[in-house]
Amino acid sequence: MVKIPVTIDLSGQIEKQLPAELAGFIRTAGEITSGQGQSLYLVGGVVRDLLLGRANLDLDLVIEGSAIDLAHWLMQDKQGKITTHPHFNTAKLQWHKWDIDLTTARSETYARPGALPRVKPGPLSDDLFRRDFTINAMAVHLDPGRFGELIDLYGGMDDLKHKLIRILHEKSFIDDATRVWRGLRYEQRLGFKLEPVTLKLLKRDTDMLDTISGDRIRYELECILGEEFPEKALCRAEELGALAKLHPSLRSDRRLGKKFGKARGFAYPNLPPQGLYLALLTHSLTSGEIECLISYLRLPKSVAQIIRDTASIKARLESLADPGPAPSRIYHLLHGYAPLAIVATSFAADSPVARRHIELYLDKLRYIKPALNGNDLKEMGIAPGPQIKEILNLLREARLDGKVTSKQAEVELVREWMAERTL
Ligand code: CTP
Repeated sequence: MVKIPVTIDLSGQIEKQLPAELAGFIRTAGEITSGQGQSLYLVGGVVRDLLLGRANLDLDLVIEGSAIDLAHWLMQDKQGKITTHPHFNTAKLQWHKWDIDLTTARSETYARPGALPRVKPGPLSDDLFRRDFTINAMAVHLDPGRFGELIDLYGGMDDLKHKLIRILHEKSFIDDATRVWRGLRYEQRLGFKLEPVTLKLLKRDTDMLDTISGDRIRYELECILGEEFPEKALCRAEELGALAKLHPSLRSDRRLGKKFGKARGFAYPNLPPQGLYLALLTHSLTSGEIECLISYLRLPKSVAQIIRDTASIKARLESLADPGPAPSRIYHLLHGYAPLAIVATSFAADSPVARRHIELYLDKLRYIKPALNGNDLKEMGIAPGPQIKEILNLLREARLDGKVTSKQAEVELVREWMAERTL
C-alpha cells in the first residue's frame, strides 16, 4: 500500500502560540519574500516548540534567497534595527521587543573538527541537514500559498513523538562537539532520551570537546545554567564524561542539586545569577583548579571574582564553624568578599554553625554602621588622617559586639580614645 504523506498544518499553532504582532510579522515576511519570487521558512527550535506547545519567541527565519535583502525589505515600513553579517549573508532584526534571526539557506562543511563551518548557499533541505538534531531540523512554510505547512525531511516529528534526541549523521559531534552539551540540555529540558546510536556516538566523541574554544564552551555552559533545573544536564554530563572535559575535578550529584535548589529559592522569581551557580559547582575545587577553569572558559571578571572569593571563604570555614565568636570576628572573616560568594558559601557549607554565622552576617552584621561619621569626629577635634578610619572601625566593632547602642555612647567611646591618646 502506498503511504500518502500527511500534511501537518501549523498555522493554528502559530496564531495561538505566538503574540499577534509576531504572527503578523512572519505572515508579512512570507508575502514580501514570495513577491520577490523567493521562499521563506520558520526553522529550528521555534518549530519544535510549536509542535510541543511550549513558549518560544526566538524566531529563526531561513530564506532561499538573500537574508540581508529580506531584512531591508522588512524594515522599510517598520521601525527597527538591522545588524548584518555579509560573509554569511545573515541578519538580525531588533524590532519592538523582539529579536529575529534571518539566515540565507546554506550548506556547511567543516575543514577540521571544531572549526567554524565553511558555508555556501544551498536549498532548504541542505540547511536542515546541517543542523544538530532531528527535532531541531524541521521548518514551516511561510509562503502565502502554503503558510503553516510543516517540512519534516529527517524524521523530527517521529522523534518528537517518541521523545528522542537524534543526530542527523554520524559525524555530527565530530563536526561540532558543542552538540554534546546541546544534546544533554535538550534531553534534560524536555524529558527526552538520547536515541541509542546518538548516545553511543556522543560517548565516542566526547573527547572532541577539546577541539572547541573555551568561549564556545562557556556559551554552552551559560545556556545550561539558564535552564530551569541545570543540575539535571550537569549530572548527565558527569555520567557521560562531558563534565570532566570542563574540569576533571567537577562533580554533579544530588547534593549539588539541593544547593542549586537553595540558589533558586534565594533568587526567586528570577533565575539565580550564573556566578552563584558556578560558585556552587566549583566549591569542591582547589584555588589552582578554579584558576584553570576561569582562564579556560574566560569567565567575565565579576563571575570570576565570585568564584575566587568563594574559594577564599572556604579556607575560613573552620573559623566560622567555631561556636561563640564575637560578632565582630564573624564580620572580619566575611567582610570585603562579593556578597554572592558569601551567599554561595551559606548554601555549600557543611557545618550548621558556620551556616548560622554566615546568615547572621548576611542578614544583620554587614549593615551595622556607627552613628557617627568622619565629619562628626573632626568636629569633636580628631585631626583628619588615618585615625579617623581607625576610630570608625573601633566604633563599628563596638556596635557589632553590642558594647555601644546609642550615638551618645559612641561619643563617650571617642572621648575615651582621645583621653588615652593625650595621657
Ligand atoms: N543549531 C545547530 N547546531 C548548533 C547550534 C544551533 O544545528 N551547534 C541549529 C538548530 O537547528 C537550532 C537552531 O540552530 O534549533 C537555533 O539555535 P539555538 O537558538 O541555539 O537553538 P534553539 O533550539 O532555538 O535553542 P533553545 O530552545 O535552547 O533557545
